[in-house]
Amino acid sequence: MRRPTVIGNWKMNASFAQTADLLAGLSEGWTGVHQAEVAVCPPYPYLAKAAELLEQSNIAFGAQDLSQHASGAYTGQVSADMLLDLGCKYVLVGHSERREYQGETDTLIAEKFEAAAKKGLVPVLCVGETLEEREAEKTFDVVGRQLRAVIERVGLEGVAKGVVAYEPVWAIGTGRSATPEMAQEVHAYIREVLGPEGEHTAVLYGGSVKPESAAALFAQQDIDGALVGGASLKAEDFLAICRAAE
Ligand code: PGA
Repeated sequence: MRRPTVIGNWKMNASFAQTADLLAGLSEGWTGVHQAEVAVCPPYPYLAKAAELLEQSNIAFGAQDLSQHASGAYTGQVSADMLLDLGCKYVLVGHSERREYQGETDTLIAEKFEAAAKKGLVPVLCVGETLEEREAEKTFDVVGRQLRAVIERVGLEGVAKGVVAYEPVWAIGTGRSATPEMAQEVHAYIREVLGPEGEHTAVLYGGSVKPESAAALFAQQDIDGALVGGASLKAEDFLAICRAAE
């Protein structure tokens, strides 16, 4: 019922030339009929290039953030409509790096989720605990709080219009992935919080997913795919993770 989904988060990486190479490599490697939904999220300046180079493939694309506002005097911000104009399907919301470095709060993230969903983008809501929070056994509290902030704003049905990505902060970019069992436990909890909508909401795992670790993660009952950072910058590695989700 839930389609396996793999989304690449390029973060602030790659030049224009590297972007073109990477997109071409992905486009060549992912044609034909596939069970898995695949998407990449390049930096804003390269989204138009993604639209051009992914046209012949089955790969969707999206942005890494958006403004909570529809339009207006918001220097440096990018609206949902602008992303839709470029052909984006997805947008990441509440990535831990934005929570940490840009001070994004649960409230702001809920507003962004709503702004994206209202326009028909698929928001990918990132949630996850820090190492300190895990060690203090607060994982469920933190993930529950992050989820409920969005549920309170858009309702359970609203959240189900998006995708949830569980990304333990201590596993992001560290090479230290959660074990499949650890991730499964939190995914099952997320589904529980989503109540009746949990059954058909895709819940992805993120945090140092590599070609070698992907299959064991995807074998877990409640892990529907992955949000991939570092390994999404190499076409070969990213495609291997996509194949593991099939
Ligand atoms: P990583 O990043 O795969 O490099 O750990 C994941 C993410 O931040 O989405």
